[in-house]
Amino acid sequence: MKIVVSVIGVVLVAALTLFADAAHECERTCEAGDTRTCYYTFNLQEYHTMSRACFNCPFNTTDCSRPECIAGDGVARPLITINRQLPGPSINVCEGDRVVVDVYNWMLSDTETIHFHGHHMKDFQYYDGVPFVTQCPILGGSFRYNFVTTNSGTLWWHSHSGMLITNH
Ligand SMILES: *[C@@H]1O[C@H](CO)[C@@H](O)[C@H](O)[C@H]1NC(C)=O
Repeated sequence: MKIVVSVIGVVLVAALTLFADAAHECERTCEAGDTRTCYYTFNLQEYHTMSRACFNCPFNTTDCSRPECIAGDGVARPLITINRQLPGPSINVCEGDRVVVDVYNWMLSDTETIHFHGHHMKDFQYYDGVPFVTQCPILGGSFRYNFVTTNSGTLWWHSHSGMLITNH
């Protein structure tokens, strides 16, 4: 059984797939007895669409699919990203795997927590991402989420802090 944890996004899925990094070692055909520890790094930062990573986009549409280029609707605007991707990075693991995510908050003025929606988090309640309840919000530093997956499906992670909750 496969667990897919990803941020919900509607644009640029195809572009992201084209230029996605080489598959993570945990992205595999799941087999009984093969459980792994899967490490991820999330760099959270203020970024912008139509950045210099987009080169000559939209005039050369190939450039619009370059890594770290978020074209959006073609209008330059600020946004907050994880690993300069929209949608954010996916986590593809097998049920029973341990997921370890180091979240670095590089934003200058906002705190952050990440909620891994749909995971039961039994015995891992301190990684549920609820600010001021299960953890201090991440401010100017990092936090390591560390939990074992116990249910399968296509789930999604999202921000659970301040105004960023709206960035589902
Ligand atoms: C468009 O950009 C790609 C690289 O992103 C480049 O290989 C190609 O030559 C460009 N096309 C034109 C017409 O400039």
